[in-house]
Amino acid sequence: MNNSSQSQRPLLALKFRSLLPKWADLASQAPFRGPSGPATARTSHNSQVQDTDMSAADVWDGAAQGLRSRLAHREQLLLDEENRTKPWRNALTGLLADKTGVVLGVANKRSIAWAAARALADQGMRLAFTYAGERMEGPVRKLAEELEGSLVLPCDVTRPDEIDSAFESIGKEFGTLDSVVHAVAFAPRDELAGDFFNTTKEGYMISHEVSAYSLTAVARRAMPLMEGRDGTIVTLTYIGSERVIPNYNVMGIAKAALESSVRYLAADLGPRNIRVNAVSAGPIRTLSASGVAGFSSILDKIAERTPLRRNITADEVGTVCAFLSGPHSSGMTGTTIFVDAGYHIMGV
Ligand SMILES: NC(=O)c1ccc[n+]([C@@H]2O[C@H](COP(=O)([O-])OP(=O)(O)OC[C@H]3O[C@@H](n4cnc5c(N)ncnc54)[C@H](O)[C@@H]3O)[C@@H](O)[C@H]2O)c1
Repeated sequence: MNNSSQSQRPLLALKFRSLLPKWADLASQAPFRGPSGPATARTSHNSQVQDTDMSAADVWDGAAQGLRSRLAHREQLLLDEENRTKPWRNALTGLLADKTGVVLGVANKRSIAWAAARALADQGMRLAFTYAGERMEGPVRKLAEELEGSLVLPCDVTRPDEIDSAFESIGKEFGTLDSVVHAVAFAPRDELAGDFFNTTKEGYMISHEVSAYSLTAVARRAMPLMEGRDGTIVTLTYIGSERVIPNYNVMGIAKAALESSVRYLAADLGPRNIRVNAVSAGPIRTLSASGVAGFSSILDKIAERTPLRRNITADEVGTVCAFLSGPHSSGMTGTTIFVDAGYHIMGV
């Protein structure tokens, strides 16, 4: 079912591997290597610009060396990801066969929602996907085609009519529903940079509507379809809800509301045999994450500080979403599980 996306990972690693010698060759051609010996390079230190006696070739060699080691590092990360996900991806068990689910929040193949969808489909779950706005329909349909029997439906969570009709269509097509994966968040870009005290009322409202309230709105529509089933609802959150992460700002407040909603929903829906949990993921390079100013430096810092000394992958989050959507987590509700390479336990 997922063969094409799985096989892309090794291909990507190979692509990087094949680039390495090319970059190295380019570097050795050293177009700036001057024939006439030492050149003058300008360096700046403590705001003073100084002339130093350094050959252009040295500067070029240094830059090429840096580039080579960065590419080698990236290649290693890809190989690591490939190796980490290989064992479970081959272990098809059909644990969720005859079950149905809806996944909200696929934007592209990097989306955490897509990783969750593949993990659920690996276990045999049939899925519906939703997209927000016409622009997203094509990419979501293309990905959904990889998973046999999938439904694709419009559902902008700021539009109650679209949520209604998405769940109506799911009811008509699937009859019942077992799982919801809610991986939807939004805040205007301006709100994800600079001082939190500059948060606008509009930015505050829309980020809460999309990123927090939508869980409750969706749960209410899913409830009747989960009647008599072992229903599960899983949402995605981030540690910025409880600690200050630079530039995460209003999204941190929305995630706090989301996590609290998980607890209230779990209490309400438990008697109906519906479990509600959250996965608090470490930072992953996705479309939404790129909207947070300085995201790359957050990734680097966290990789240095986590007990596992690395960042996590979307697939590692996806498998935990599948765990929370399946029978192995039957005694868990109202919980937030961290999938962050252990970052949340660190004091410094
Ligand atoms: N990437 C990370 O570092 C990270 C870490 C922790 C938690 N998360 C959370 O994971 C979830 C998925 O995000 P992602 O990182 O995979 O990014 P993503 O950009 O791939 O997914 C975000 C999704 O939200 C959808 N969305 C935005 N506004 C919407 C609306 N009005 N109606 C319906 N859908 C809407 C987008 O279309 C997109 O599919 C989010 O809740 C995010 O906060 C991400």
